[in-house]
Amino acid sequence: MKNLADQMTAAAAQAFAACGYDASYAKISLSNRPDLCEYQCNGALAAAKAYRENPMNIAEKVAEKLKESPIFGKAEAVRPGFLNLDLSAGALAEALTAISESETLGSERIGEGRTILLDYGGANVAKPLHVGHLRSAIIGESLKRICRFLGFEAIGDVHLGDWGLQMGLIIEALRDEQPELPYFDEAFTGPYPAKAPFTISDLERIYPAASARAKTDEAFSARAHEATFRLQQGHPGYTALFRHIVGVSREDLKKNYDALDVHFDLWKGESDAQPYIGELLAILEEKQLTERSEGALVVPVAKESDTKEVPPCLIQKSDGAYLYATTDLATIIEREKLYHPDEYLYITDKRQAMHFEQVFRVAKKAGIVREETKLGHLGFGTMNGKDGKPFKTRSGGVMRLEYLLRDIRDAVLERMAETNLPEEEKQETAAVIGLAALKYGDLSNQATKDYVFDLERFSSFEGNTGPYILYTIVRIRSILRRLAESGTVPAQTAILPAGDAAEKALQLQLTRFAETVRAAYEEKAPHKLCQFIYELANVFNSFYRDHHILKEEDKARQSSWIGLLQLTEKELNTMIGLLGFEAPERM
Ligand code: ARG
Repeated sequence: MKNLADQMTAAAAQAFAACGYDASYAKISLSNRPDLCEYQCNGALAAAKAYRENPMNIAEKVAEKLKESPIFGKAEAVRPGFLNLDLSAGALAEALTAISESETLGSERIGEGRTILLDYGGANVAKPLHVGHLRSAIIGESLKRICRFLGFEAIGDVHLGDWGLQMGLIIEALRDEQPELPYFDEAFTGPYPAKAPFTISDLERIYPAASARAKTDEAFSARAHEATFRLQQGHPGYTALFRHIVGVSREDLKKNYDALDVHFDLWKGESDAQPYIGELLAILEEKQLTERSEGALVVPVAKESDTKEVPPCLIQKSDGAYLYATTDLATIIEREKLYHPDEYLYITDKRQAMHFEQVFRVAKKAGIVREETKLGHLGFGTMNGKDGKPFKTRSGGVMRLEYLLRDIRDAVLERMAETNLPEEEKQETAAVIGLAALKYGDLSNQATKDYVFDLERFSSFEGNTGPYILYTIVRIRSILRRLAESGTVPAQTAILPAGDAAEKALQLQLTRFAETVRAAYEEKAPHKLCQFIYELANVFNSFYRDHHILKEEDKARQSSWIGLLQLTEKELNTMIGLLGFEAPERM
């Protein structure tokens, strides 16, 4: 289904042509000045240059023609040559009827036949989830859902950090605690026990202690490096321990991500890429892309057009160790073999932007991906506390996700003091609203920007918040229920042309669903969905304030209004699904 701006552009193209100007000047877009008009066209100004004519003359001629088209309710030439346009109420109502009948709410399935791989989450095994991982999970999950809605085959990979020094640190700390374990017995021939010799709480105790100890205890640090190296060489006992560490961590991470309603298709990690490193080196060698720089193996990737320095991509250190970029490139080789995506999207902290720039350049230069494969990195800003510094717990430690979720649920519960839901439902509802508060609080900001985590504001039932959106959905559902109970069932009639400004504002907003989802995908910008639903909730609430649906005597009008309510509910509910949360039954 073509969006309205495109339909209007097509009509305007005919008008420009009929007046003797090239049809390409007819581009119509949403108005920058919604107080003056709904849509605008600046083509007459550009045409004036090309045709050496007065822009106002052109605009006036075109406006006259546009008035003949049924799609425009208003076509006005204004100085110095703008066209201010309104949709006609009839065209608007017709478009809405079509959207109501469309399963995708008018969205085109632009991703049909295309595969996108989303690399998000990015938690590190045995290390606690931090705020950066939280943002990656929330933003990535939303983008994945948006892609699916648009018809893409979207594959989400958590891409665990499971291949670094943290493994050696844990192995050596375990050796000190439980030296009798068979993993440390070089003569042991297996099989190793199936059950891990530690729990997640042990890991959470062992890792930070080992990491702190390595900073002062040189001998311990050397042992950890050695163990990491031997693990990477395939030491059987360490490999068995590694599997336990990853297994135990993964189970715990899954619980955390489930609580966030974030779900991955793939639970792969950096370790899965290791078998592809040999192939990577061979490709780089064969294409003669590598150089030696102070003993290290690098691939220069700077381009003449660069405005800031892009240093060479480091592939192997002089001591033989591979780096973050090496693993990411090897992972692309693996992904090409297994999934062959048309598009990649990595969602991490924006401080990793240079890393991805380097990796992408190498991948293209080396032909690891096709020339037309899209490689994208969405770098997000920091979630800060009210003090403007990266968010920490009250005691100054790393935020634990479960505590964060508990705090939000409690803040919501406080606001629900008056509600008379049964206690159990109240608790569950508070958790559902809390998740919406957290996710909306994050997603409503442009991803690249830093933002302040403000529990008070995020959990408020008023203003630009998740709970306000949920409240609006719950409200519409209860109105629809009441209407149904009173026997007022919408007949299957079309949406009627709007009778007043509030109704038209609601109708206009409802037509913008598809273009909003599309822009959110194209610009990798879930905040556009938040802007859309906030505006929709507002125009709906004003419409509902002065239209008495239940009492309306004109049955066709009443039924058209019910159709608007249903469509509003459907658009809001679909959008929150794309953002990654849901509405409770009641609140
Ligand atoms: N584990 C990394 C971190 O904590 C994020 C991984 C992102 N994905 C990737 N393919 N590099 O920063």
